[in-house]
Amino acid sequence: MLFGLLIAPLLVSGTSCPVFKCGSSTATSGQCIAYTNSSGVDNYKITPCVTGLTCNYAKQSNAICEFPTDYMPRYPGEYCFDNLDCHSGICSTNGQCLGLKSGDACDMTYQCGTGLFCNSTSSVCETLLVNGTACGDTSQCSNSVCDSGVCTAYFSKATGQPATAISTQGLAWACITGFASKNLCAVAPVSNSTTSAATCTVGGTCTAKDGINTKPCTCSYNGKAYCPLFEGDTQVQNMITGIQKILPNNINCHTLNRFSYECFATMYGDQAFTDYLAWAANAQLYLNNEWVLQHTSLKCVNETLQASYLNIVNQNNGITQQCPVYTETNYTEGWNNNTCIFATDDIYYSNLFTTFQAKPSACTNGQVCHALVSAEATNSTCYTPPAAVRYPGDYCTESTQCSSGTCTNKVCTGLSIGAKCTSLYSCNPGLYCDTANTVCVASVPQSGVCSSTVYCQANLTCNLGICVPFYSVALNGPVNPISGGYGFSTVCASGFAALDSKTGATICMTAPVSPSKSVNAVCTPGNSCLDSTGTYKKACTCGTNGMAYCPTFEGDYASTKAIYYHKKIISYQSNCNTIMVESYCYMKSSTIYKYYKYYLTYYQEFTSYPLLIDSKDSFIGDLYFSAYWSAYDSVRDSSFGANLAISMIAFVAFNI
Ligand SMILES: *[C@@H]1O[C@H](CO)[C@@H](O)[C@H](O)[C@H]1NC(C)=O
Ligand SMILES: *[C@@H]1O[C@H](CO)[C@@H](O)[C@H](O)[C@H]1NC(C)=O
Ligand SMILES: *[C@@H]1O[C@H](CO)[C@@H](O)[C@H](O)[C@H]1NC(C)=O
Ligand SMILES: *[C@@H]1O[C@H](CO)[C@@H](O)[C@H](O)[C@H]1NC(C)=O
Ligand SMILES: *[C@@H]1O[C@H](CO)[C@@H](O)[C@H](O)[C@H]1NC(C)=O
Ligand SMILES: *[C@@H]1O[C@H](CO)[C@@H](O)[C@H](O)[C@H]1NC(C)=O
Ligand SMILES: *[C@@H]1O[C@H](CO)[C@@H](O)[C@H](O)[C@H]1NC(C)=O
Ligand SMILES: *[C@@H]1O[C@H](CO)[C@@H](O)[C@H](O)[C@H]1NC(C)=O
Ligand SMILES: *[C@@H]1O[C@H](CO)[C@@H](O)[C@H](O)[C@H]1NC(C)=O
Repeated sequence: MLFGLLIAPLLVSGTSCPVFKCGSSTATSGQCIAYTNSSGVDNYKITPCVTGLTCNYAKQSNAICEFPTDYMPRYPGEYCFDNLDCHSGICSTNGQCLGLKSGDACDMTYQCGTGLFCNSTSSVCETLLVNGTACGDTSQCSNSVCDSGVCTAYFSKATGQPATAISTQGLAWACITGFASKNLCAVAPVSNSTTSAATCTVGGTCTAKDGINTKPCTCSYNGKAYCPLFEGDTQVQNMITGIQKILPNNINCHTLNRFSYECFATMYGDQAFTDYLAWAANAQLYLNNEWVLQHTSLKCVNETLQASYLNIVNQNNGITQQCPVYTETNYTEGWNNNTCIFATDDIYYSNLFTTFQAKPSACTNGQVCHALVSAEATNSTCYTPPAAVRYPGDYCTESTQCSSGTCTNKVCTGLSIGAKCTSLYSCNPGLYCDTANTVCVASVPQSGVCSSTVYCQANLTCNLGICVPFYSVALNGPVNPISGGYGFSTVCASGFAALDSKTGATICMTAPVSPSKSVNAVCTPGNSCLDSTGTYKKACTCGTNGMAYCPTFEGDYASTKAIYYHKKIISYQSNCNTIMVESYCYMKSSTIYKYYKYYLTYYQEFTSYPLLIDSKDSFIGDLYFSAYWSAYDSVRDSSFGANLAISMIAFVAFNI
């Protein structure tokens, strides 16, 4: 593992290449490779792992999905989040695996920190040897290679000089040319063509342009065999010259894993990381035989066996996967007791992600997981939800459910006009508690003066200090400022308001729509999505499925439907608590409650559709969006459409 690049040559002894096929298209957390063997031909059936787990191919074996660090714990100097990630069992506070110090007793070199090796005679960690010093193997040399018993600068020896450090691919690490013949540095052979890999006969050899040097013919994932690169080929020569640029940063990496993504990821955002990606994307063509392996037409191969390589290529091309990964896990070592979602930044298939590992069953005894979507790596914990409070006007079956302590005819009763009150919510519908004078007073009617919507009648909203009906202000009419300059407005008939740059006033405008046919188009995080006119933009938003999508615009279907249903429930709000209009109020009418669920679901699709994609019937949907999916199932999913029975799900208070 000197180069931290997996060497997975599909060399075959037989006469045909192994056969790769895709298994289930649904990602698994179990077996990702099923190996079978029919008349001497190796068959691999591949099912991608759920995001967050990786599939580790081994020749002629089955494979299961694993956490990356389970099968390859990290070396000192490499990126870590958790102690369990490291060989040493110690992840420093700045996210790097620690190792033993110089002079500490050791058995193996992987135990020693960066810049050190384990001297097997003295059994202590010692400083790596500088070039020119006698050595036993390359792991003892500081950023150089042990060649002919001496630490030697990479690719520094002239043609004709002795060379012993030859890789399995045929690379002479110490020779300027990268090639040695009969253990002497020599002119490197080239392929007849380096524009594409030449096909060859399985079990045969490939001859270089010189007609002398040969390499074994190798298989790709498509069942065909191709010639690998020769050392004189441009790609290999670029790798040799390009290595100079990344060598100065290798001192931060462990001697056994000098060119690993896991080490360079600690330099994320630095030029050193950028240089590494450029080098690795090219170097893997030769060191990992990607020149041959990249031939595949199977998505499942791209997503598993080729994922690391493709991720490095993508990152080098500026395509970074920035969306967090959500996984379900039973692997909860090191979690605090009441943790249900454990947030880490971690590496999967040579790509750095924020990950949220969830254990839905972690919460028991009536507790629920406090799952909130966040771009930050934040843990979630189990908590006991506070008992729902029902205010005057809300549906009830027992008096104990009501804040007032009285349930009459299935409605919580409250205080009448003129009655003494203390809580803002304690008066009957149509009233509010004037807390200054501690008396229930009538809500402000249409055109009355207001300082906040809570003082208006429940079917009105406060616009520029006046109670007005919802969705009543015509185009160009002035409305309350919108944070961000433009956006959804429950005051405008159009549902949308924007700052008028000429007057500085916020006015109702026609609601923007997504470009035709591309509602919720896939986009790149960090970029903006424009409406159909190119006037308004919204940030490209990560989903919970690893992809990013354009959010919905105010004039699109979801928000139009949300407004349609909002209007249907507004008139009913006169029957609700003026201050706290919540789902319990709508439950009094099955029709209104149904409209409310339509409103709730369409409104959530308007505000956060990208997050909901693919989350139905998954742990993500259950943990993060249970109110949404429960409402969706009861009114929108045709298979549940008939089920309009009032459920006792406490939706979040509907905040007007
Ligand atoms: C598969 O076939 C090869 C060659 O015929 C044989 O050596 C090997 O044992 C087989 N493996 C299994 C798992 O049957
Ligand atoms: C290892 O330690 C022994 C004993 O201290 C020393 O003689 C030897 O030079 C060391 N080996 C290397 C490779 O440094
Ligand atoms: C040691 O490194 C220097 C600088 O890279 C180089 O000039 C010199 O030739 C190297 N010596 C050996 C023995 O590799
Ligand atoms: C490349 O060309 C040489 C002659 O220059 C030939 O001997 C050799 O077979 C060719 N190799 C391949 C893979 O076609
Ligand atoms: C697999 O990745 C390669 C890039 O190496 C790409 O050209 C190809 O289209 C991908 N195939 C599939 C089926 O996704
Ligand atoms: C966790 O364990 C439960 C019970 O053994 C099992 O049903 C579930 O599939 C496991 N989940 C994962 C992600 O391994
Ligand atoms: C999550 O919890 C673990 C301990 O269980 C803790 O080490 C880690 O710092 C927490 N992460 C965050 C972002 O708070
Ligand atoms: C978790 O709870 C057990 C007992 O139920 C306790 O022994 C242990 O210390 C707790 N662990 C943490 C990290 O709080
Ligand atoms: C709002 O509700 C009140 C009763 O509280 C009713 O008199 C009034 O007509 C309603 N206004 C609108 C705009 O629906």
